[in-house]
Amino acid sequence: SPSDPDLVERARAAKEKLGDKVFVLGHHYQRDEVIQFADVTGDSFKLARDAAARPEAEYIVFCGVHFMAESADILTNDQQKVVLPDLAAGCSMADMATAEQVAECWDVLTEAGVAEQVVPVSYMNSSADIKAFTGEHGGTICTSSNAKRALEWAFQQGEKVLFLPDQHLGRNTAVRDMGMSLDDCVVYNPHKPNGGLTADELRAAKMILWRGHCSVHGRFSLDSVNEVRERIPGVNVLVHPECTHEVVTAADYVGSTEYIIKTLQEAPAGSKWAIGTELNLVRRLANRFAPEGKEIVFLDRTVCFCSTMNRIDLPHLVWALESLAEGNLVNRIEVDKETEASAKLALERMLALP
Ligand code: 13P
Ligand code: SF4
Repeated sequence: SPSDPDLVERARAAKEKLGDKVFVLGHHYQRDEVIQFADVTGDSFKLARDAAARPEAEYIVFCGVHFMAESADILTNDQQKVVLPDLAAGCSMADMATAEQVAECWDVLTEAGVAEQVVPVSYMNSSADIKAFTGEHGGTICTSSNAKRALEWAFQQGEKVLFLPDQHLGRNTAVRDMGMSLDDCVVYNPHKPNGGLTADELRAAKMILWRGHCSVHGRFSLDSVNEVRERIPGVNVLVHPECTHEVVTAADYVGSTEYIIKTLQEAPAGSKWAIGTELNLVRRLANRFAPEGKEIVFLDRTVCFCSTMNRIDLPHLVWALESLAEGNLVNRIEVDKETEASAKLALERMLALP
């Protein structure tokens, strides 16, 4: 929908007043009305690096979700302030692993006598507490664009990986990219005693997958893949690795949001694509590439936007920018020093991956 012209003008004016003091980051899943004010757009990996590369900006306005703003705070210097325009922009997947649950899981692994062989690998989509746990236990963070390299690194450090919190990204990377079998993976359910696993199962497993998922990507189904193939003959199915293993196996191409964009950029005119990722991004790509004769559709018309990504809308962005321009620091996301130190270790291991 077109943005309110008054709000557009107010956002523009506030941004101009702030000048180089503000740097606006926009995740690919953000609304068009917000993306138009982003100084840089990207997936979570690119944005983490871009946030760290702007030491002169006093304010980093993060148009994305809470865990991304936390990561930006960890990676930027102490003078910089990270602002999330709506504090209700969380992530249901990140909420599926709490610090208490993960500490309990580590006790279970210790009891089973396997903890010493385990290297934690945590998806960017996790709280700062989980990143700190990961850093303290010799592990790394990964995103959907470097999950394979993160697992290769982890298996050089130890014999098993505890993958948090997205079971699908963990399983898909292990099986598709690392040549493991489904039997090498077990799922740790934090709501069951001992994660619902026996000590023998933990000893036999290579990948211990946390039972978390994305409430958007987890909803694409094998039926949606079959239906779109029937509806659009010759269609290429391209999905994000947060989709289920079944969907990823049935797809033609799998990759992070940056990979999806690059693949569509390079696609020949006349090609047809069904995309399984967040709807704001798919719509934007469909509009952008239509003039080049590329037909792009959403994989499943019953799946909708990421509701928390969508919390950041133009009114919230205007409010944040105008507040900053008037000298009021609002909605600051600040990770405490102790958590930050350990989480930073894990994030820096990711940034150093080959
Ligand atoms: P990427 O930005 O790593 O592709 O992750 C997708 C996602 O779900 C972010 O919330
Ligand atoms: Fe979280 Fe999924 Fe939304 Fe990304 S798309 S923020 S993983 S719920």
